Amino acid sequence: AGSIAEYLDAVVQQVRDQVGDRAVLCALSGGVDSSVCAAIVHKAVGDQLTCIFVDHGLMRAGEPELVAELFGRNFGMRLISVDARDRFLGKLAGVDDPEAKRKIIGEEFIRVFEEEAARLGEVDFLVQGTIYPDIIESDSAKGVVKSHHNVGGLPEDMVFDLVEPVKFLYKDEVRELGEAIGLPRELVWRQPFPGPGLGVRVVGAITPEKVRMVRESDQIFRDEIAAAGLDQSIWQYFTVCPGCRSVGVTDGVRTYGEAIVLRAVHSNDAMSADVAELSPDLLRRVTLRICAEVEGVNRVMYDTTPKPPGTIEWE
Ligand code: XMP
Repeated sequence: AGSIAEYLDAVVQQVRDQVGDRAVLCALSGGVDSSVCAAIVHKAVGDQLTCIFVDHGLMRAGEPELVAELFGRNFGMRLISVDARDRFLGKLAGVDDPEAKRKIIGEEFIRVFEEEAARLGEVDFLVQGTIYPDIIESDSAKGVVKSHHNVGGLPEDMVFDLVEPVKFLYKDEVRELGEAIGLPRELVWRQPFPGPGLGVRVVGAITPEKVRMVRESDQIFRDEIAAAGLDQSIWQYFTVCPGCRSVGVTDGVRTYGEAIVLRAVHSNDAMSADVAELSPDLLRRVTLRICAEVEGVNRVMYDTTPKPPGTIEWE
């Protein structure tokens, strides 16, 4: 415990040295990484920090409300919530290449920040929750696996200097740091959520309908995982819309609906992952609920691919 406290002090001091008395913006997504970063920077420079939460329309159910409640009200940070849903979905319409989607989302993020920063006056720094695996997996010398939206997706003419307090840490170390700084356990131990959000869980071109199917099925899957008492023991669990329609039958009538894929994996650092062995009973319950409750879905599948050769997300 001594060493993590010392590490935290050192990181806080580094941020203070870098930022001085100037203004900082934080890209707050509500995920573990950006939340821990916001807390570190808030500890370092207090009200010089303004957090910006961008609702890109690709959030999980209930997420924008949760972020406002937790950070704005509980932690007393300066928080601006930006509703950019139409803007992101407009830019993404018809784009089906995974890297192109990631780049658009990453770039649009920065544009929104720049606009908010301009409104706030003089802002020199941008906090980002980049962690070490993001850097490794976006390292072009090794061949790009994915352009993580907080590394490869940045536009070249960006006007901020970056503050990245956890960029040499793995996820579990970020969590330790989060606990050391006093963030609530349920926040620190949330499952990871990618910056591009549900956008990388709709395979191919994003449509509002497919986002809805992923969001609603994700909520059902999360509820059932929690009801089974597994929410703290599975690294990540979510649903994907692979965009393959198939023929089904409901009440004797033919359907031609979308499929939903369930993904649940165990991992330590997201660099590799094993498939979680969910009980047939749980899988059946989730399947029947999704087909019954999510309009337009008539088939549910379970992804049995470890990483490698799969990645955790589908794009
Ligand atoms: P993959 O799909 O590459 O994901 O096996 C590894 C871990 O990273 C998360 N992920 C992201 N996190 N920005 C993020 O902050 C991103 O662009 C991004 N893409 C994937 C993913 O959810 C998993 O935990």
